[in-house]
Amino acid sequence: MTMVAALMATTGMASAEDVEVLHWWTSGGEAAALNVLKEDLAGKSIGWVDMPVAGGGGEAAMTALRARVTAGDPPTAVQMLGFDILDWANEGALGDLTPVAAAEGWDAVVPSALQAFAKADGKWISAPVNVHSTNWVWINKAALDAAGGKAPESWDELVAVLDAMKANGITPLGHGGQAWQDATVFDGVVLSLGTDFYKAAFIDLDPAALGGDQMAEAFNRLIKLRSYVDDNFSGRDWNLASAMVINGEAGMQMMGDWAKGEFLKAGKVPGTDFVCIRFPGTQGAVTFNSDQFAMFGVEGEGAVAAQAAMASAIMNPTFQSAFNVVKGSVPARTDVPNDAFDDCGKKGMADLAEANTSGQLFGSMAHGHAAPAAVKNAVYDVVTATFNGEYADGAAAAAALAEAVAAAQ
Ligand code: BGC
Repeated sequence: MTMVAALMATTGMASAEDVEVLHWWTSGGEAAALNVLKEDLAGKSIGWVDMPVAGGGGEAAMTALRARVTAGDPPTAVQMLGFDILDWANEGALGDLTPVAAAEGWDAVVPSALQAFAKADGKWISAPVNVHSTNWVWINKAALDAAGGKAPESWDELVAVLDAMKANGITPLGHGGQAWQDATVFDGVVLSLGTDFYKAAFIDLDPAALGGDQMAEAFNRLIKLRSYVDDNFSGRDWNLASAMVINGEAGMQMMGDWAKGEFLKAGKVPGTDFVCIRFPGTQGAVTFNSDQFAMFGVEGEGAVAAQAAMASAIMNPTFQSAFNVVKGSVPARTDVPNDAFDDCGKKGMADLAEANTSGQLFGSMAHGHAAPAAVKNAVYDVVTATFNGEYADGAAAAAALAEAVAAAQ
């Protein structure tokens, strides 16, 4: 008996037809989306054993995963991002979803930018459930109206709106001081200095771009943004920062479109209660991340069949619509109609298609789609240190970034 089977037998936790799902969807909006998935699987008689590990960006979840695999007891299905999927595939830890993918024609409907992380050595190794993107800003509509009413389209306009919100007595920027949240803001800041620059710095890891003048300017912008957060930002969870914008305590949040899930859960309506815009200066470009479910090695036909059934359920077009409408993301397939999506979702779908065609679609550094974890973590360290005032200026931070990324490779 394998250790997994022994554990199941003794605890009665899971049966062969169950999937044990490790994920980090623990906020209100995320839990609502997760329920759509749970109910869909329940309707197909696939049992669900929940393994939530809180922490946006999934760092804590990935640490928990490593511990479970090391103990010889991996969960059967795992939410995962970008390069982490490829790393686990390299270790030979992932199940092969090619039979179900081939039977259902995933090759033809999943964008190639996602396939780059969902396939290894020609085999499908994960099922993408969505496409999120990080270069969004979520603005309280009443706070924007009080600050002049015009959504900012450039860096200077952004600063003007933030200043007006400050003058109006609210916290201009709702933010949680956690490394991954600082890095999420920084995705947008770097992209606002040009798509060529984002690509050179974060995709190609060009030392000249990482340590040069434009990166110094990016860090100076980040330092400027730091002046708009409240005194209690440190350590705050992202969904609490969303709540500040939802209740008008803060003016805006720079966050991926999972934030929209929080607004919707609170009964808020895009265009009426809140406004979604691309990070000023990044219109037409998209920094994406895609949540995918990878399957870890299991024994027994029933368990493998349950994994394949889960993957198939995730890829169903009707499910992709229902799930992503709640999650705030957009479908991971190109053939899902946009009818059920609100205006922000429709914009997200159109932006993704346009950025893909125009060559302005890039993996998010903050969410593991630009570079492997070692590099991402090096970026996190310098970005967070900068946000917390550890460098004299942007130039010093850029020099530190170039050095940290070089050391991490
Ligand atoms: C995931 C989202 C999640 C967010 C916050 C991101 O890395 O892709 O699905 O909602 O983290 O937890």
